[in-house]
Amino acid sequence: MAIRSVGVVGCGLMGGGIAQVSIQAGFPTIAVEANQQLLDRGLAGVKKNLDTLVAKARIDQKARDEALGRLTGATRLEELKACDLVVEAITETQSLKNETFARLDTICPPHAILATNTSSCNVTALAAATRRPGQVLGLHFFNPVPLMKLVEVVQTILTSEATVKTAWEWVQTLGKTPVRTKDSTAFIVNRLLVPYLLDAVRLYESGLASLEDVDTAMKLGCGYPMGPFTLLDLVGLDTALLVAEVMFEEYREPRYAPPPLLKRMVLAGRLGRKTGRGFYDYSGGTA
Ligand code: CAA
Repeated sequence: MAIRSVGVVGCGLMGGGIAQVSIQAGFPTIAVEANQQLLDRGLAGVKKNLDTLVAKARIDQKARDEALGRLTGATRLEELKACDLVVEAITETQSLKNETFARLDTICPPHAILATNTSSCNVTALAAATRRPGQVLGLHFFNPVPLMKLVEVVQTILTSEATVKTAWEWVQTLGKTPVRTKDSTAFIVNRLLVPYLLDAVRLYESGLASLEDVDTAMKLGCGYPMGPFTLLDLVGLDTALLVAEVMFEEYREPRYAPPPLLKRMVLAGRLGRKTGRGFYDYSGGTA
């Protein structure tokens, strides 16, 4: 099956990014949000990103207009009734995702593939919430979606090879590189990245070095594009905490246990760039 039309559920940082790369690759795409206010914000984000690309002469005005012409906003899942592929990117709550998949299953055409962008929820549980478990898989994008080239294609023990093949080809059409992974909490990237980020927080808690020096050390010593605290602020401390908690719950290994400081930063509302302050202060625009 070839994908001709796409739905994206959730138009936040990740969903908005997925909708953007989908319309830029030529797919008519419907973005669904829970209410009009969230939808307006999500669509405005996509438009702003495309305008930035025009301002930088990365795309021309015509490409921007055509891409935006392929984007439709909606506040009801029922609008996805003709989509060949739906990618869910709502909050990382298993019960909410299970419910969404059960509803999508009743709304979408029988041939449609249902994908989740989850980084920590159980994809097999989502498949089991539908009557089409062979057509459910994970498509895990990375933040910021328009820039990061990887998508983890997550196959459960129920996902058919035909579904993986179709999704794999769609990911390639977006200009991304797919890698295949089984449905095991955190997949490949977060399984390696999250303990590294948690260790950075533990190292800072121990008083070994300053935030800036840890970030500089990993950038210049290892060639990483950004240090762990800059990356935590980009990912969102609440997201990092949630992923760590789910990983600890699943594997019971101390290296996945969230350090006390991370929990307190989240309780204090210092979630990173999105709230203007995380490990660094962004109130002046830059860190
Ligand atoms: N959105 C869109 N464009 C962005 C951006 C963003 N959030 N941040 C930076 N850019 C653009 C800049 O505008 C700049 O564009 P131009 O070249 O056109 O001027 C370009 O990217 C380079 O930016 P900078 O020079 O400011 O910074 P950089 O060279 O460090 O690149 C980066 C930015 C691509 C984000 C790079 O730092 C990077 O790759 N960082 C690591 C990101 C990462 O690890 N992501 C994965 C997070 S984990 C995850 O997502 C999974 C999960 O489940 C939690």
